[in-house]
Amino acid sequence: MCGITGYIGKRDATPILIEGLKKLEYRGYDSAGIALLKKGKMTVCKKKGRVDVLAGLMRKNPFKANLGISHTRWATHGGVTDENAHPHVSSDGMFALVHNGIIENYENMKRFLVKKGYTFSSQTDSEALVNLIAYHYQYRTSDKDENRFLEAVRKALIHVEGTYGIAVLCKDKPDELVAARKGSPLLIGIGKDERLVSSDVLGFAGRANNVIYLEDGQVASITKDNCDIISIGNTPVEYTIKEIDWQLENADLNGAKHFMQKEIFEQPKAIENAIRGRISEDQATAILQGLNMTPNDMRQIDRIIFCACGTAWHACLVAEQLIERYARIPVEVEYASEFRYRNIPIEKNTLVFVISQSGETIDTLEALRESKRKGFKTLAITNAIASTISRESDGGLYQYAGKEVGVASTKAFTSQVAICLLIALYIGRMRDMSYSVGKDIINALKSLPETIEKTLKTAPQIKKIAKKYACKNDFLFLGRLDEFPIALEGALKLKEISYIHAEAYPAGEMKHGPIALICPECPSVVFACAEDVLAKIVSNAQEIKARKGAVIAITCFPEAFKDIADDIITVPKVHDSIRTIIDTVPAQLLAYYIALERGCDVDKPRNLAKAVTVE
Ligand code: F6R
Repeated sequence: MCGITGYIGKRDATPILIEGLKKLEYRGYDSAGIALLKKGKMTVCKKKGRVDVLAGLMRKNPFKANLGISHTRWATHGGVTDENAHPHVSSDGMFALVHNGIIENYENMKRFLVKKGYTFSSQTDSEALVNLIAYHYQYRTSDKDENRFLEAVRKALIHVEGTYGIAVLCKDKPDELVAARKGSPLLIGIGKDERLVSSDVLGFAGRANNVIYLEDGQVASITKDNCDIISIGNTPVEYTIKEIDWQLENADLNGAKHFMQKEIFEQPKAIENAIRGRISEDQATAILQGLNMTPNDMRQIDRIIFCACGTAWHACLVAEQLIERYARIPVEVEYASEFRYRNIPIEKNTLVFVISQSGETIDTLEALRESKRKGFKTLAITNAIASTISRESDGGLYQYAGKEVGVASTKAFTSQVAICLLIALYIGRMRDMSYSVGKDIINALKSLPETIEKTLKTAPQIKKIAKKYACKNDFLFLGRLDEFPIALEGALKLKEISYIHAEAYPAGEMKHGPIALICPECPSVVFACAEDVLAKIVSNAQEIKARKGAVIAITCFPEAFKDIADDIITVPKVHDSIRTIIDTVPAQLLAYYIALERGCDVDKPRNLAKAVTVE
C-alpha cells in the first residue's frame, strides 16, 4: 500500500526512481511524485495519476541529481489531488518526505505546529510529520550535533502514534538519506557505491542483490557507501544483510496481457513449488519442517485458530474444512482485523495460524502479535520471503508461488489451500488418518499441476460465457461444504476487478432470504463438485431456474445440470481434498474475462492496492 523508492549514489537518480516506482505501482496508483536534491537545491514534482504521468513531467523538466526519493500513493488522509501527492515538503523548505502508513495523532501535531508558525498546503497526515521533523531540526537539535538530520527524524518519530515507512531528504545534507519504519515495510538495497530504499524488493528493479530489512522502531542514516541504523530509543542496531532471490521476485509480464492472467496460468507451477520436498510417499504424510514443532508438540494441540484477511481469509475457511475433515481437530477462523480487538478467550494448547500472501498486511500482523503477547504458538503461511509476518512468527511455511503482482490474488490463494491440505495431512497422519487416506491425498496433490492445466483449457469457453453476462450488475455465488469458501472467493474476484455487485452464500441458505434477489437480471454461479451434496445443490439450482434466474454451473457432474443450467463449465473430477482448487480456476477466469469485457483495468482495480499496510 503506497510504494516508496529512494536512491543515493553516483548515477542520475530520476530514471532509477521512476523505474522502481513503476514496479511498485501495484501498491497504489492514485498519484506519484519525486523529490531530488543536488548541492542544496531541492526540486519536487508530483502529480495526480499514474507513474507514467510523472515520468512525462520529469522528461519535460529534467533535473540531474544523485539523491532522491519518490512515492506512488494509495490515498488515506486527503483526497486524490496534486497537493496531497507525496513527497511533502516542510514549510521552511528544509525537508522532503515520502510516507507509507497512517499517523493517527496528526491533528494534535498540526495544531502544535501551526502555533509555531508552520504552514500546511495538503490535507495529509504526512505533511504534519515532515513539519515536525523540521521543528525538531530547528529547535531540538543543534548544528554541533554530528548526526543532526538523523536526530531530528528520530526525535520527531518519538511523538508519532500510528504507522510509517518513511524516506526523508534534508537540504543541508546533500549526501545523506534517512529512512525509518514502524508497521510499514522498508528495505535498504546495497549496490556498488549506491544505496536504494524501497517498500518492496521490487522497487530495487534488479539493481541490488543484497538487502537490509529495517525492523519496527529503527531509523537509518544512509549514504552512498554506508548505512548506520539506530533504534528510536537511540541505541545502535546491528543488522544482517540478506541476499535477494530474484527468481522468486520475478515480476515481468512475460508476454501475458495482464499480471492477473499470467498468475492464473502460473498456478500449476505455483502448486508444484508449494508441495515440492514436502511429501513423504513412504510414510504417506507431509514433511513440514518449517513449522518448528516436534510431532510431540503437534500432538498436544487441541484447537487451531486461523486468521487472515480477504482472499487469504477464504483460504482459512477451506483450511477449516480440510483440517476438521482429515485431522479431526476443531478449527476456528477469524478475520484478523476483528481478532485483535475482540479479546477472545483462547484455551491452552491452541495453535494460531496466520495466512498472508504479502506477509505485510497490518491487520494480520497485529493479530499475530496479539496471539504472541498472549503466549500462543504462532505459525504463518506467507509468499513473501523475509516479510514481517514470516520473521515474527514462531515458524511457518513459505508458498514459493513466485511474486504476485496482480492486485486480485489468484495463484497465492490456490497455493495457500494446497499448503493447508499438507497441514491437514501432516496432523491427520499423527492422529487417526489411515495410510491409504494419506496416500490418496498425496496422489491428489501430485496430480494437481496437470489437473489445473486441464482446467485452464476451459478459458475459451469461459470467455464466451463472460460476454453473455458482462452486462449484469448483480451476481449470486453458491456452494456447499468447502465449495462455499470458493463461492466467496469467486464473488470477491468479480467485485474487485469488474465492480459488479456479487454475494456468496452456502447454497442451502439461499431460500432463507437471498432467493428474493433471483430474477432474470441476477445470474447465479453454482459450484457443484461435492458428490455428497450433489442432489441438494441440484435442487437449489432448480429453485433458481423456477424463478427465471440464469444458472452457470461449475461442476464435474455436467449431466446433473443439463436440463437446468444455462451454462455448464465442466471441470475434471478429482479427489475431494483438492476440489476447491479446481473450482477456483474457472471462477478466476470468469471474473477476469467479465472485467475485460467491461473494459476494466484488471491489474489496477479502482480503490484497491496490493499489501494493505494500514488499518
Ligand atoms: C483479494 C486480495 C485481498 C488480500 C488481502 C490479504 O484479491 O488480494 O483480499 O487477500 O488483502 O492480503 P495478504 O494475503 O497479503 O495478507
